[in-house]
Amino acid sequence: MQIETRKTTPYSDQKPGTSGLRKKVKVFLQENYLENFVQSVFDTLGDVAGKTLVVGGDGRYLNRQAIQTIIKMSAANGVGRLLIGQGGLMSTPAASCVIRKYKAHGGFVLSASHNPGGPDQDFGIKYNVTNGGPAPENFTDAVYARSRVIDQYKIALAEDVDIDTIGETRLGEMAIQIIDPVSDYAQLMEHLFDFNLIESALKSGAITLSYDAMHAVTGPYAIRILEERLGAPIGSVVNGVPLEDFGGGHPDPNLTHASELANRMFGARAPTLGAASDGDGDRNMIMGSQFFVTPSDSLAVLAANAHLLPGYKEGLRGVARSMPTSQAVDRVAEAMGIECYETPTGWKFFGNLLDARKITLCGEESFGTSSDHVREKDGLWAVLFWLNLIAVRKQSVAEIVREHWRRFGRDYYSRHDYEGMPAEIGAAIIEHLRAQLPGLSGKTFGPYSVRVADDFCYRDPVDGSVSEKQGIRVIFENGARIVIRLSGTGTDGATLRIYLERYERDPAQHGLDPQEALKDLIELAESLSEVKIRTGMSGPTVIT
Ligand code: G6P
Ligand code: ZN
Repeated sequence: MQIETRKTTPYSDQKPGTSGLRKKVKVFLQENYLENFVQSVFDTLGDVAGKTLVVGGDGRYLNRQAIQTIIKMSAANGVGRLLIGQGGLMSTPAASCVIRKYKAHGGFVLSASHNPGGPDQDFGIKYNVTNGGPAPENFTDAVYARSRVIDQYKIALAEDVDIDTIGETRLGEMAIQIIDPVSDYAQLMEHLFDFNLIESALKSGAITLSYDAMHAVTGPYAIRILEERLGAPIGSVVNGVPLEDFGGGHPDPNLTHASELANRMFGARAPTLGAASDGDGDRNMIMGSQFFVTPSDSLAVLAANAHLLPGYKEGLRGVARSMPTSQAVDRVAEAMGIECYETPTGWKFFGNLLDARKITLCGEESFGTSSDHVREKDGLWAVLFWLNLIAVRKQSVAEIVREHWRRFGRDYYSRHDYEGMPAEIGAAIIEHLRAQLPGLSGKTFGPYSVRVADDFCYRDPVDGSVSEKQGIRVIFENGARIVIRLSGTGTDGATLRIYLERYERDPAQHGLDPQEALKDLIELAESLSEVKIRTGMSGPTVIT
């Protein structure tokens, strides 16, 4: 095998965001753009001689091509072995599972998650570390620093490798194993959930299911696990074939982008459970017949019921949520006498808490939930959790959630996104809010008196690291909150997210439309941020 060291010039924009490096495909197609980033990762990793890395992606445009580049660069950089998902596919949670199971050194996941795919859309790459989770910030900062000065990369001169046939080959000294991307993950799920119970409920028709894979990576996982293993009727999984452009759709499981599923679930003869996942399979949306479960409520319900499921029958060590996620799970933790941690947005912040065994379950408002079985959020896991729960409790999704509200109270919650504003305007809105913070404490707006107004700062209880400026919080005496932050995952301008939350103990008041229940807070958030005046937008582009 001939190895070539090629000269390159650095790019200045390879700073990984909330979840890896995400850019337009056109940006990735610039000369050596991917090569520079991959070499920066290798340079940061140091000696990888003899080590195993996992490689897979969500199947979007550029996935296969990028994998060939990674294979050749891995061989040139001395990697011992690559485990690659057949066809270049591997969901993010499955990659996390495979890294952990085979004690790999880490892995490359090729995905821009829930962003659209195709030649004019997005591509992405992230590196996951030995625990199976996203690389921590000190690592991604080091990769970024390296990418700014990189002047050469190493690549093997070789033919493309067949990534479609399961089995083992070599490239020079490096072993390449093409693996079934589903089986390890499916085994892990079988270990956590009561597959026999779910199977009999699905086969008898006691539970009906519609799972929308959105033409993204979870199609093969869902077909294998839900239809073939658990016996859900063929057709329970829709849009199950991964496509490079996700069929032109936006693979983000929410009421706007998964509207096909939402219409089915609000229509006549809706199944018991409706669910969808995103591009790389780590997000989930859960619906019942005529009912949408907010991700924050889903997390709280899972926490309150986990002990009913085989994998969690010992109970939970603790739970965690990201700061903008509603406080519904806090109430469950309090009732159970376990700790609830509040972390900044981004799954990586859960890693230390999971590794230190401080928590078992965690989740975010951004349609992510998972547990200590992997170090990523896990879409299909959440679906199986709900299936198992419905089968155990023999209640509908709506009944389970409404009963939860009666017990713990309801946290009315909504997120308003203002997408695609110029980056300077987004930054100016945050600055404007920051400037107001010192004067807000103690101020009263109608029924809302401000208890705390700050820019969230997190001190990791495990390693003591501090993450500042993680979002503007206005917390009121009655527990209501307004949180405002800029998205860290977009590729077009800036997206401002406004998170709104109000607690309601009284069951007689649990049937309101969240937009109505949160009306005052919505107006207050709009006036504090001046979002409409500053952007000229008449309202949010997405409401979840
Ligand atoms: C990704 C991360 C999540 C995070 C989300 C936030 O999906 O994996 O952990 O919650 O991005 O996205 P945002 O666009 O709000 O920064
Ligand atoms: Zn994702």
